[in-house]
Amino acid sequence: MRVGVIGGGLMGSGIAEVCARSGVDVTVVEVDPGHAERSQQAIAKSLDRGVRAGKLSEEDRAAAWDRLVYTAQLEDVEGSDAAIEAIIEDESAKRDLFKRLDQILPDAQFLASNTSSVPIMKLGAGTSKPDRVLGLHFFNPVPVLPLVEIVHSIMTSDATAVVAREFAEKTLGKECIDSQDRAGFVVNALLIPYLLSAIRMFESGFASKEDIDDGMKLGCAHPMGPLRLSDLIGLDTLLAVSESLYDEFRDPSSVAPALLNRMVEAGLLGRKSGRGFYDYSN
Ligand code: 3HC
Repeated sequence: MRVGVIGGGLMGSGIAEVCARSGVDVTVVEVDPGHAERSQQAIAKSLDRGVRAGKLSEEDRAAAWDRLVYTAQLEDVEGSDAAIEAIIEDESAKRDLFKRLDQILPDAQFLASNTSSVPIMKLGAGTSKPDRVLGLHFFNPVPVLPLVEIVHSIMTSDATAVVAREFAEKTLGKECIDSQDRAGFVVNALLIPYLLSAIRMFESGFASKEDIDDGMKLGCAHPMGPLRLSDLIGLDTLLAVSESLYDEFRDPSSVAPALLNRMVEAGLLGRKSGRGFYDYSN
């Protein structure tokens, strides 16, 4: 099987890595050479980590690496059996991309988006076959977290959902839940208001960032506290998802705190930019 992964950012790299480790040939489309290089470095580091942890043999690492091809040309995904989009959370860029994928891949089994903030219906609507467009929403870090949300737009066919679920479960070894095409899907609709509450708590001086994080780690056994998790997700992504939730539900719990807006404007995006609520420059 060959899959096109469009976008070599944090999520695209993780998805490409998991596909390659599962025996799938992957064409990664990344237009920015710097991002493509960073993506390859991140995958190499993660594969090394797998070898060190004894989860991956040297041969499997080499085979996974050989299955990855990078290109800047979208046309190079031609002939793929499926595509998974993971570009920036920009609705018009994603809509244009799906229109092009629809033409380049007339026979693909499914065209999926990893979006966390754009309705799947808007992506399918510009294609000739909206029934084969759906959401496959992975979680960061993709090689570690088992979940994939299968997001059905009102036009996604049952046959498409079945094939995509089979791919995620049987080929990639993930576990799936189904969600309707509502802002946030299942997990972010619950998670994002919690993260925004933690930012509001920090912003108001209620508690220090360390104490907020320790509170949820030590008191509720979360693997990481909400401010560190916000940094891991990326504050720009968090902002985009909060805006999509507010647009859809108009619930005050999804209003982005001013501090989040200011941090994104300042380029403090979390781990990926080297600084967010915490400093990652080392
Ligand atoms: N790539 C590959 N493997 C990784 C990894 C990465 N980036 N980060 C960690 N790992 C592996 C390690 O190799 C280790 O594996 P092992 O147990 O077999 O040795 C395991 O994960 C644990 O790693 P560490 O011991 O280094 O670190 P932690 O125990 O602190 O775990 C964490 C790090 C996995 C990030 C953990 O803190 C965690 O799960 N945090 C919560 C993450 C979360 O909630 N993600 C969801 C975000 S929401 C989202 O993505 C949706 C979007 O739309 C917003």
